[in-house]
Amino acid sequence: MTQSEGEKKKVILTCAQPTGKLTLGNYLGAVRNWSNMLENHECYFGIVDLHAITTPAHPATLRQNVFDCVAQYVACGLDPEKSHQFAQSHVIGHTELAWVLTCLTPIGELQRMTQFKDKAAKLGFKTAETEDGEVKFSHEGARPQASINAGLLCYPVLMAADILLYNADLVPVGEDQRQHMELCRDLAQRFNHQFSDTFTIPDAFVPKTGAKIMSLTEPTKKMSKSDENERATLYVLDEPDQIKKKIASAVTDSEAVIRSTPEKPGVSNLLTIHSALSGQTIGELEEHYAGKGYGALKEDLTEIISASLQPVREKYHELIKDKAYLKSVLAQGAAAAQKRAYRVLGKVYRKVGFPERERT
Ligand code: TYM
Repeated sequence: MTQSEGEKKKVILTCAQPTGKLTLGNYLGAVRNWSNMLENHECYFGIVDLHAITTPAHPATLRQNVFDCVAQYVACGLDPEKSHQFAQSHVIGHTELAWVLTCLTPIGELQRMTQFKDKAAKLGFKTAETEDGEVKFSHEGARPQASINAGLLCYPVLMAADILLYNADLVPVGEDQRQHMELCRDLAQRFNHQFSDTFTIPDAFVPKTGAKIMSLTEPTKKMSKSDENERATLYVLDEPDQIKKKIASAVTDSEAVIRSTPEKPGVSNLLTIHSALSGQTIGELEEHYAGKGYGALKEDLTEIISASLQPVREKYHELIKDKAYLKSVLAQGAAAAQKRAYRVLGKVYRKVGFPERERT
């Protein structure tokens, strides 16, 4: 039976943090793939401003970043007529469900999360696991007055709530979110087991190419918007001259052979970006560049990136001037998301044993 014959569309939910500018990693590992799913799925795209405050955020910047993010979503091809785009803080249910799930989550599971340990390390904390699986934090060497807030620890539970609140079937994400997705699935199973079937167990959908775009300056690290080195990260809104400079200074190696191998992380990363944008396979690219130098690869790559991002950049600059339109996209998205969220939250509250509220 085809979908048009009445089969229910699968529900897709995914989110990104409103950090202002989407990186090429966000684009290739995430947003671009979402736009290919609009036709055949019911799509919810969240802008997770509640997650954003787990690290210090300036209020005016955060507010503006949410609009920048929705403008970039739409510019990247997420048609608001075919999807629901919402700010996480606009929908009641995310924090409520997160609390219920928090009460089903052992602290140790959260302390062992790779991203949590990475974030703690950035604050100068060392973590070590004892033989019985307990995680110890040493403050030695931590920045003066640095502390790890509980939000950072509970971050993955809120993410699980984002997904389960919509009973999503599929969650398209980059490689770095796999561990969080596992926790989400575990929590759904734990809840279902304890209180009877409630949540759909969601599947992560990780793209074949582009799931992990690496830093241009340290290609063993993922490309990230929090990188202090501005040459490390390409942004969707970068102008052609910025793209040229960043690609020109991208780290390669001294071998001058264009091949994708674990020993050549810099070159492999450039080939991955090329492949994700040009559609050619890595094998085809290796063949094409046999005997050529890194200069040729970098020149072509600069052009491909600039050309691919030009329409996104132009559309963004048009949209960002129209705040009323962006607000209407968020309002429509929040209304649809809220409808679905209330249904699931109501079910969860009943199963947990909270009394129904009498209407007055
Ligand atoms: P965030 O905002 O860091 O990233 C948004 C999406 O971009 C992907 N991504 C990458 N893909 C390839 N290469 C990279 N270098 C790269 N960097 C980022 C991420 O995997 C992600 O898919 N915790 C999430 C936000 C979140 C969420 C959710 C995601 C909150 N609730 C519910 C899905 C479902 C995050 O910080 O993504």
